[in-house]
Amino acid sequence: MPSNRRSDKPDWHGRRHGKKLRPGHRKLVEKRLPTLRVTAQDPDPDFAGTMTDAPAQIWLEIGFGGGEHLAAQARAHPEIGFIGAEPFVNGVAKLLSAIDGGDLKNIRICDDDARPLLDAMPERSVDRAFVLFSDPWPKRRQNKRRFIVRENLDRLARVMKDGAQLRFASDHMDFVSWSLERLIAHPCFTWQARTARDWRSPPPDWQPTRYEEKALARGERPAYLLFNRLAR
Ligand SMILES: C[S@@+](CC[C@H](N)C(=O)[O-])C[C@H]1O[C@@H](n2cnc3c(N)ncnc32)[C@H](O)[C@@H]1O
Repeated sequence: MPSNRRSDKPDWHGRRHGKKLRPGHRKLVEKRLPTLRVTAQDPDPDFAGTMTDAPAQIWLEIGFGGGEHLAAQARAHPEIGFIGAEPFVNGVAKLLSAIDGGDLKNIRICDDDARPLLDAMPERSVDRAFVLFSDPWPKRRQNKRRFIVRENLDRLARVMKDGAQLRFASDHMDFVSWSLERLIAHPCFTWQARTARDWRSPPPDWQPTRYEEKALARGERPAYLLFNRLAR
């Protein structure tokens, strides 16, 4: 893993490495990842030559974990170009394996903190963004590490097109309330829910995530918040 490509912002608190990668996954990270990588230094994903046409839209997933949701969305929507950001190398390796196993042509990967990438991406370039089961950082002194804070919403608002959808989901209700408060307060986003049903159930084209499945297995009921980026 070329360390000079990765940001080591002192305020990023996640894990980059878990269990030692098995040889097949290590090979994917060494050989396949460089062909699919987007970075803050080179944020323009090259989908040329891999799809019949340029992607109709760009959808961005921040913190894709093992990439289960991202791969399923990419399989369901071959006409869309996907960018996933995830610094956890074991998760990146899992997604690479799903990409090769499923012959998915429409995914590009930022194996790093999403924030510098968001700052480098062109304004109005994203048609849909996903922040799913993001780390809840439940201890009060750690709350500031949560992804849904004003600075990150500003970043998302800049890169999202007018009318683009932001999907946030979590099973941690304190984190849901915190995020909802900040999303509602942000001048660029409007909540789509009209009744409790709208946020208690996933939207019709939902694809499961690993953390969602773990929460459901524990008997918890996640919240699914859908926001639209308001017109400028
Ligand atoms: C709790 S996991 C959820 C993974 C997946 N979304 C799911 O639902 O199964 C949150 C993930 O967000 C990633 N993450 C945290 N901060 C991030 C950031 N600034 N940019 C990109 N990914 C981030 C972590 O590495 C972690 O894998």
